Amino acid sequence: MTESCLPIIWRDNKLYLLDQRLLPHEETYVEIANLRDCALAITEMVVRGAPCIGFTAIYGMALWVKGQSKLSIENCRTACDEMISARPTAVNLSFEVNRCFDIMKDSIKMNADIEVIFRDLVAFGDEQIKQSNEKNTCMAQVGFSELKKLFGDRKWNLMTHCNTGFLACGSLGTALGVISHAHSLGHVEHVYADETRPYLQGTRLTAFELSKEKIPYSIVVEGAASYLLSHGKVDAIFVGADRIASNGDTANKIGTATLAIVASHYKVPFYVVAPISSFDLTIPDGKHIEIEMRAINEITELKGIKLAPAGAHSINPSFDVTDHKLITGIICEKGLITPSRAGDLVRVVTL
Ligand code: MRU
Repeated sequence: MTESCLPIIWRDNKLYLLDQRLLPHEETYVEIANLRDCALAITEMVVRGAPCIGFTAIYGMALWVKGQSKLSIENCRTACDEMISARPTAVNLSFEVNRCFDIMKDSIKMNADIEVIFRDLVAFGDEQIKQSNEKNTCMAQVGFSELKKLFGDRKWNLMTHCNTGFLACGSLGTALGVISHAHSLGHVEHVYADETRPYLQGTRLTAFELSKEKIPYSIVVEGAASYLLSHGKVDAIFVGADRIASNGDTANKIGTATLAIVASHYKVPFYVVAPISSFDLTIPDGKHIEIEMRAINEITELKGIKLAPAGAHSINPSFDVTDHKLITGIICEKGLITPSRAGDLVRVVTL
């Protein structure tokens, strides 16, 4: 990753976000001044990807604290809830913001200065990004060993959906981290990157990352999955996650579940790669995951050009839930989980 492509930059007490809406053709940073700007940047997907929206929100809470003349547990809770409401599906957002709330609450109880709480939150954000780099490296190694066990020393053809690389994670990446690591060890023949309708994270962002790392790839439409898998073009599929329920049901970008169903039909191994911060063990299964519904113009228009007839109806669920029975393995920083084995998730998380 080059310095110029960091999705989140905290410098001289200011937060800058790479505007991912403009990629791959423009690399422009926007400065985020306060909580409202930060929540809006998350909603409007200036920054996106489950881990990155969590990290951004931490710095957003730090900016909010700095702008207050007095803090109370109540006004901290209200501010945290405003941030959490920016996007509903990725649990990383509430996970990180609720940890900020705990820091603020404990500091208020100890009569800490606003400046101290601000600095603690910034340090917390920095630490989470650093740790995420280490966790992604662990997951990449687990994914690599799994591939080696399955396919040995030859080069592998891999497929991925949406964007799970450094733009989504701030470092190496989750699913794309496995692919990038395997490539660095000379094991990748070709990567198939789903275009990821309607927001085109695959075409715009994953292809951008694969190009930067000189990994051979082809962008494919989601509808090509059956063609590719039935012709033996793909050895294994790696995707990320926005929320994983206790039984292993996994919410990820719309189209992931369809891909998992096709993979199961053609017996192609299907892996989810996600840190434990993407697990939500407060819910038993995927039926309890709120799915974000986004504006229909993401489907009916392309960069302001109208595609559909005036007044066309559309629905735009941004995520779907993959049944745990379709997932070969969930790779997290503690190793490989087989979601079809009841209780495996809870056991691994509490190790
Ligand atoms: O709507 P997005 O672009 O934020 O969705 C991103 C995804 O669905 C990713 O696959 C997921 O967040 C995992 S990122 C490591």
